[in-house]
Amino acid sequence: MQIQNTVNDAPHTIETEPRRLLVHLLRDSLRLTGVHIGCDTSQCGACTVLIDDKTAKSCTVLAAQTEGCSVHTIEGMSQDAITTALKRAFNECHGLQCGFCTPGMLMAARALLLATPHPSEEKVREALHGNLCRCTGYQNIVDAVLLAATLLDPGMAQPARSVQEASHE
Ligand code: FES
Ligand code: FES
Repeated sequence: MQIQNTVNDAPHTIETEPRRLLVHLLRDSLRLTGVHIGCDTSQCGACTVLIDDKTAKSCTVLAAQTEGCSVHTIEGMSQDAITTALKRAFNECHGLQCGFCTPGMLMAARALLLATPHPSEEKVREALHGNLCRCTGYQNIVDAVLLAATLLDPGMAQPARSVQEASHE
């Protein structure tokens, strides 16, 4: 069958098997290998992409279901303000170690900040609950997303952590 969608803002017309998973289409046909596969139980979130700006685990979605949709992967995170803020914040808060979960985490964080520019810590944890990390213990990732929200809106109160760090600079 043939489907038409956009992937990272580029229009595609793609021949695919009806039962093919989106993650395989992205990785094997489009070579977007930043979409990771970390499990075979739909639990890890390493394969998270955005479909019409909402998170989706691409191992749980048929490629055919993205007919007419806009799909974004980590490779397509444009150099806009949200991306820039997230990159800086993950760096400053040590929001990654091995980096395997990071593309999925960043996509989930991006979807959150697109929908909720001023998230509470609880909201951040809720938004990331489908993304597993075996390295960081999560707190640094949560801090990073909160800091990114602050960087995007300097009028917001600084997270305690970054205030402390700034005072030691
Ligand atoms: S690869 Fe683990 S949830 Fe998709
Ligand atoms: S940084 Fe290693 S799994 Fe998250």
